[in-house]
Amino acid sequence: MTLLERLTVNDLRALPDGFRWGAATAAYQIEGAADEDGRAPSIWDTFAHTPGAVAGGDTGDTACDHYHRWPEDLGLIGRLGLDSYRFSIAWPRVVPQADGRVNAAGLDFYDRLVDALLAQGVTPFPTLYHWDLPQAQQDRGGWPERATAERFGEYAAVVADRLGDRVTHWATLNEPLCSAWIGHLEGAMAPGLRDLTAAVRASYHLHLGHGLAVQALRAAVPGARIGIVNNLSTITAASDSEADRAAAVRADGHVNRWWLDPVHGRGYPQDMVELYGVDLPVRTGDLELIGAPLDWLGLNYYFRQIVADDPGGPLPRFRQLPGPGPERTAMDWEVHAPGIEQLLLRLTEEYGARELYVTENGSAYPDTVTADGRVEDPERTAYLEQHLAACARAVAKGAPLAGYFAWSLLDNFEWAYGYDKRFGLVHVDYPTQRRTVKASGHRYAELISAHRAR
Ligand code: NOJ
Repeated sequence: MTLLERLTVNDLRALPDGFRWGAATAAYQIEGAADEDGRAPSIWDTFAHTPGAVAGGDTGDTACDHYHRWPEDLGLIGRLGLDSYRFSIAWPRVVPQADGRVNAAGLDFYDRLVDALLAQGVTPFPTLYHWDLPQAQQDRGGWPERATAERFGEYAAVVADRLGDRVTHWATLNEPLCSAWIGHLEGAMAPGLRDLTAAVRASYHLHLGHGLAVQALRAAVPGARIGIVNNLSTITAASDSEADRAAAVRADGHVNRWWLDPVHGRGYPQDMVELYGVDLPVRTGDLELIGAPLDWLGLNYYFRQIVADDPGGPLPRFRQLPGPGPERTAMDWEVHAPGIEQLLLRLTEEYGARELYVTENGSAYPDTVTADGRVEDPERTAYLEQHLAACARAVAKGAPLAGYFAWSLLDNFEWAYGYDKRFGLVHVDYPTQRRTVKASGHRYAELISAHRAR
């Protein structure tokens, strides 16, 4: 499908009745109000305030000011016709300090949000951790330490206790790969470390925290539907050479299997354990906890990876090459919709998924508002249509896809890239905080209502 070929509702006919149509956001990226109502700094406040860490010196101090403007933002959810909304709960609002004290004002914010969503007929899909570890936990060692997983389990219990009477669908972690590999190995995200041992230990304790959170949610919320959100990529070897093919297996281990196998009760992939050469701090019972059955899996899909061997490079010794496709987003990510179909089918066939959600998928382009107040973003619309068509093809081939969440509802703080990269279906003019639904947002609304009415 090119820019000129439009998707029709017929292309979506495989998507089941009751398919959930949503959009996603994350606390630090939209809320702002960084020091209000008892919120304490997270590792992202620290990182963003470190000179040189984030493009343009941007921070999440104000972001989209969603903390104050949430009623307007819920209005936008209504205008788009969404029936589901994925957002994250900020641990540093709820349990801001290391002493474990619960900050009632922080919980109240999410309580009001949930009530308002339900009142307008929108199903809340909260994520408990979207990268904003309280700095107080980092100061005690952060994810490389077991205590952080234990504290996360306790925080999950607090949230479940408050919202569990109204919230059914829960995600524990968002993209733990980024927390562990980008935050602790590549240093490009908070906490900005470059240390393989810390990264592997962080990955393990993120999983343990996930397992403890699942346990807490199951105990507090009868009938909870719990999942985890992973960013996965299809991996292709850059050539047929043995070295590149071996690099592709390592890349698949690093990017996909390391994140999928343990939460499916399969333990950690042995080839990768040997390659990293870092002892996993496993205690009796941990792997069962980490691998406890889930109700659904979330897929965040953005790009595929073409990889080549990198014998002199750091572990796991592969290089990512630019994809050959002609279309690229403002992130310089290749547009490659077949990848989402392949990953949904892989989760179904190799991991026996019984319920899947695309918990994020979207694209950044440099949008501007015209003099008469419109945002024309044909590339984003094409991206959306291509990926929805690919989702429908996966469903036709047997993937149990139950919903799709566009990333993102709003333009927001794109981590180390700052505000320059705009992923929203709704444009945000930061100086005025004025919201404008983009043409892609209108198109999404049109497709949703056509699918529902079919
Ligand atoms: C995945 C992350 O979960 C989200 O926070 C981020 O903004 C998008 N990818 C786009 O990079």
